[in-house]
Amino acid sequence: MVQSPFQIGAGPRVATGPAGRAMAQPMDPDLLEGLKHHLTMERQASAAYWALALWFAERELRGFAHYLRHEAADEQHHAGLVADYLIARGQTVQLEPIAAPRQQWSDAEEIFAAVFQMEADVTTSLQQLYALAERGGDVRTTVFLDPIVQGQIESEHQAAHLLGRIRFAQGDPAALLVIDGELGADRHEPASMA
Ligand SMILES: [Fe+2]
Repeated sequence: MVQSPFQIGAGPRVATGPAGRAMAQPMDPDLLEGLKHHLTMERQASAAYWALALWFAERELRGFAHYLRHEAADEQHHAGLVADYLIARGQTVQLEPIAAPRQQWSDAEEIFAAVFQMEADVTTSLQQLYALAERGGDVRTTVFLDPIVQGQIESEHQAAHLLGRIRFAQGDPAALLVIDGELGADRHEPASMA
């Protein structure tokens, strides 16, 4: 007979995680370590974007600064999603130090090539987490990661698009100002064929 926790005599005993909260399923230590590392990566990406916004703000390219400042906030949001998830899984969130972001760049093209690479690295980290979660039968984590991976695909697509437009400009100030105006008006989406 199946025991229900609502039956008389069934004790309210539930497992608790390191945070002392009720925990439905323990987490694989490697997956837990990976999620904490990923949270740091998102915070690092936020700091990197903020430093890039500053770089453009110092050079009167306010549209680029506007776009990158919003990207910095998005990365902070992603870090928040991971923190919320760890709490929901009964874990504690120990914050790791983040490094000072790079501030020396030669031009916008170099910056956006680095932005594209950074987004690709974040996706790789998510792929590794996904594989770990699947191996451990942790469906909660794969479901949690699904929309985040989807968002990463869009971030890579957008970074590739902006890098492509900056390459068109070939450093011409007038062309860069056109892109700057677009970014200032929140026009940063690639073409859509759908
Ligand atoms: Fe992110």
